[in-house]
Amino acid sequence: MSIKLQTERMSIREHRVGDIAAVEAYSTQEKFWRYLQVGELGEGSGKAYVERVIAEQSMRPRSEFNLALTMKANEQIVGNVRLGITDLENSEAILGYAVAPEYWGQGDASEAVKAITDFAFNTLFMHRVYAVVDIENAASINVLQKCRFIHEGTLRENKISQGVRRSSHIYSLLTDEYSA
Ligand SMILES: CC(C)(COP(=O)(O)OP(=O)(O)OC[C@H]1O[C@@H](n2cnc3c(N)ncnc32)[C@H](O)[C@@H]1OP(=O)(O)O)[C@@H](O)C(=O)NCCC(=O)NCCS
Repeated sequence: MSIKLQTERMSIREHRVGDIAAVEAYSTQEKFWRYLQVGELGEGSGKAYVERVIAEQSMRPRSEFNLALTMKANEQIVGNVRLGITDLENSEAILGYAVAPEYWGQGDASEAVKAITDFAFNTLFMHRVYAVVDIENAASINVLQKCRFIHEGTLRENKISQGVRRSSHIYSLLTDEYSA
């Protein structure tokens, strides 16, 4: 099944080989990957990222949904969103998202998170969706709070990012809270 989610301003679709240049352009900027962990989309890895997420599209059962955020107005790629099923038996998924720096502050991440959260609960029937966010990533924390995610706790110095030990907050949303 090819996924396509529509929001007011965006078409959130599967990645294609033709997206590599656009992904490379936004993911090679230092401020873009400042808070991201090793293994996530990072400097110079746009080609590998697009090839990996295209391969994931045909996996069955499919547990990874890494989608491109494109503006309806001009089809420009402005970022990506990820939903990964971490525990199928218990219906749990992890959420991730990133927007190209030149588009920050325009509500794109919040719009995309609302759409992928709806997909998680109403199409995949997940029970719990959670996100792990660097404690200094104020913009990302704002996105989660705007989308009604609840702070569960803090992982102390759980990762090394750019050579520095950093801590992360865990935020989650349950299906009942989403529907309320
Ligand atoms: C986090 C990120 C996705 C936010 O994208 P965005 O499209 O700018 O987010 P939105 O426009 O939806 O803004 C969300 C809120 O955060 C606020 N915000 C933006 N930058 C901020 C900052 N530096 N400090 C505090 N708040 C900030 C916005 O004003 C907005 O709040 P408002 O609607 O009440 O004004 C983007 O900064 C990004 O891609 N960062 C790099 C990758 C990353 O860190 N991803 C998240 C991993 S958990």
